[in-house]
Amino acid sequence: MSTDRDALHKRLGEISDPHTGLPLGQAGAVRGLAVESGRAAVDIRLGYPAEGWRSGLVSEVRQAIHSAAGISEVTVDVDWKVAQHAVQHGLTPLPGVRNVIAIASGKGGVGKSTVAVNLALALQAEGARVGVLDADIYGPSIPRMLGLAGRPEPTENKKILPMAAHGLQAMSIGVLVGTDQAMIWRGPMATQALQQMFNDTVWDDLDYLVVDLPPGTGDIQLTLAQRIPVAGSLVVTTPQAVALDDVRRAASMFAKVKVPVLGVAENMSSYICPKCGHEEAVFGTGGGQSIAEEIGVPLVGQVPLNAGLGRSGDEGVPVVAAEPEGEVAGRFRTMARNAAGRLSREAANKKVRMPKISITE
Ligand SMILES: Nc1ncnc2c1ncn2[C@@H]1O[C@H](COP(=O)(O)OP(=O)(O)O)[C@@H](O)[C@H]1O
Ligand SMILES: [Mg+2]
Repeated sequence: MSTDRDALHKRLGEISDPHTGLPLGQAGAVRGLAVESGRAAVDIRLGYPAEGWRSGLVSEVRQAIHSAAGISEVTVDVDWKVAQHAVQHGLTPLPGVRNVIAIASGKGGVGKSTVAVNLALALQAEGARVGVLDADIYGPSIPRMLGLAGRPEPTENKKILPMAAHGLQAMSIGVLVGTDQAMIWRGPMATQALQQMFNDTVWDDLDYLVVDLPPGTGDIQLTLAQRIPVAGSLVVTTPQAVALDDVRRAASMFAKVKVPVLGVAENMSSYICPKCGHEEAVFGTGGGQSIAEEIGVPLVGQVPLNAGLGRSGDEGVPVVAAEPEGEVAGRFRTMARNAAGRLSREAANKKVRMPKISITE
């Protein structure tokens, strides 16, 4: 019997996880397997939230077990636990936050903020506790996108409470000092205000804090990437070749400060005709994939041009909240599992993988 169990255990360990890119066994996800009088009970624990994969994973496990002779009944338990992953050497994690995921882009207007809020909502839909922090002094757009109104509440000891939006905890430099004020700050003033927002916001038990960084790779961005304790970053781009140079620059900035790049997120990948459903690659195909391969990270997701995505963000209800079962929400949820899965893999590897890029600029 025990050899049967061992064989089954091995079989389960071979199931591949598309989000981490590792077999379950190698990721240490097969926690338990009990086999007794024709029944099997399987216990899987992932390192990232995966509500959207649960039923697919359960049927893969069932299939693997059913093919073993003599087993008629299988129960499968799937859950996850998000660990606190390593941050840059010399920094301590933010209180109340297990992992900061920084969202960056080489230039503005590629949909960084759109990706940040919808990714946050998607991580939440996958089963995580999530916050969003808007650190974009050049254009704090999170208040508009999440419909934040008013000012955050102070606590008794002069800290500030995040605001609530669609189940997320949220804070923005825009609600603290006003959008106009933030945009006229330069250099050290901006960095100091941002640092204060990082130190003073009281987050409540977050698995992930998604941080919308200012676009570009200048001094402010570099300083933030250096000073905020970040577990991983995502670089947002559009598929055009001109945007791809900016991805290289962003990856190189993170390499400099030893923050792993979890992947590239491609926005405006294609246009899907709302009338006929035809998908057209307006800006060409393969751009995100090839730059991701070049710097040695996965393409974690592709989001189409979508009128609802633009509109709903402007109205304070991002598309993942407005149409949680829609096509675009599905894309963001896949992106969320890929990014979070990748982050859990960094921990499973016990070493930080840096993008393949030379740091000389
Ligand atoms: N996939 C998309 N489809 C349609 N509109 C989009 C999409 N992504 C972003 N937008 C719109 O493009 C504009 C710029 O996006 P935004 O997220 O603010 O970019 P960034 O933060 O990089 O400056 C916004 O008006 C947004 O609503
Ligand atoms: Mg923005």
